[in-house]
Amino acid sequence: MKEIAGNTYIRQDNEDIFIDSYHLHELIDLFDTPLMIFIENRIRDNIRDFNDVFGNIFETYEGFYSLKANYLPSICNIISSERMGGEIISLPELKVALNAGFSPERIIVGGPYLPDDLIEISLKHSIKELIIYNLEDLERVQEIAEKHHIIQNICLRINSMKYESKLGIKITDTNANRIETAFSKCSNLKFTTLLSHYGTQMNHVNQFLENLDTIINAIKILKKHGIEIKRINIGGGFPEATVMPKKQLIRIAKALNASLQNKDINIEKIYVEPGRYIVGDSGIFIANVIKIAKNRWVFLNIGNHICPKFARCSLRFYNVSKIDASHKYKTNLAGIIPTDQDVLAKDYFFTEQVELYDKVLVTNVGAYCLTFSNRFPYRLPTIINIKGDEYEEIFNPANQHDFSI
Ligand SMILES: Cc1ncc(COP(=O)(O)O)c(C=O)c1O
Repeated sequence: MKEIAGNTYIRQDNEDIFIDSYHLHELIDLFDTPLMIFIENRIRDNIRDFNDVFGNIFETYEGFYSLKANYLPSICNIISSERMGGEIISLPELKVALNAGFSPERIIVGGPYLPDDLIEISLKHSIKELIIYNLEDLERVQEIAEKHHIIQNICLRINSMKYESKLGIKITDTNANRIETAFSKCSNLKFTTLLSHYGTQMNHVNQFLENLDTIINAIKILKKHGIEIKRINIGGGFPEATVMPKKQLIRIAKALNASLQNKDINIEKIYVEPGRYIVGDSGIFIANVIKIAKNRWVFLNIGNHICPKFARCSLRFYNVSKIDASHKYKTNLAGIIPTDQDVLAKDYFFTEQVELYDKVLVTNVGAYCLTFSNRFPYRLPTIINIKGDEYEEIFNPANQHDFSI
């Protein structure tokens, strides 16, 4: 059997397509489109591969799935049952993570917006680390920690200095003084960790090395000011697992390790926060061709409301009604939002013949599509999870209305 989109769980045998062990045409008979399918075993494999690579290269590695990539409770349940912690940015997300069984000592929480209730509930649950993006937040965290007699480990998100990023704290000599002063007033807070997250869909080793350099420089500056940081968090930014082969992941992890050794940086822990790598290629859409217009414009019954550009997915399109036909004719794929801007792909290699109601498989939509989706007034897709030759319905728009938290 031939793999589709480089995914071992999407396979083709002549005209038959299997999603894990489920026959796609049976699903097409059972469900209306658009249908969103998650492949549980792909998520599990991705976690194991990621942990295997980083765990083998770094003895002190800990992985935290970035829930914002996909916070569906059923997906979180799968991830929490593997060896992975969670990275959280909001209170609704924290509740999902706790309900999904992530234990608080494997949860790190933080972001640019830290309301008091998020801080308080995080601290009361004894989460592993609180991540601070703005030094001004420290005082509030201290007050809450003091009130509850809690000593909290703190990670500072540092500014990656890429494109003048607005997020995080720039570590300069002046700011190091401010940090020192700020922590000296916060006896319940322990500054343990530095986080730098560089970007998304990073394919090159150098991008990861530049990110690490930002952290190393910050460690050195802080050291001059008497602050010793022994834990680092390199964030996420890995592409879908089908896009980044395991050997490239190994190259990245080895290069990071070599860089730390060459620069004589001793760390106690290295944290990584993958989102897209874990779930990106576990998600697919089945959509219908609903219109064919001139200049090979093919309209699908999905669009940027549910498959948004903002999600930066490595979208791949297959005409599953004509899967044996060669996909080599440049085609433009549009969505159903009534604006010319709803373009899913331009000049995409697709089948020469395209007919109304052909079914189209769209791969790599497991990360950020749902997170960045909006409330455009179309019915949401049914969402199912496939494991082996069984499926479970995890979202039914007819009675659940919304999957947001
Ligand atoms: C701080 C941080 N960590 C991790 C991630 C996850 O990134 P990715 O899904 O690209 O791995 C993000 C995504 O924006 C992030 O901002």
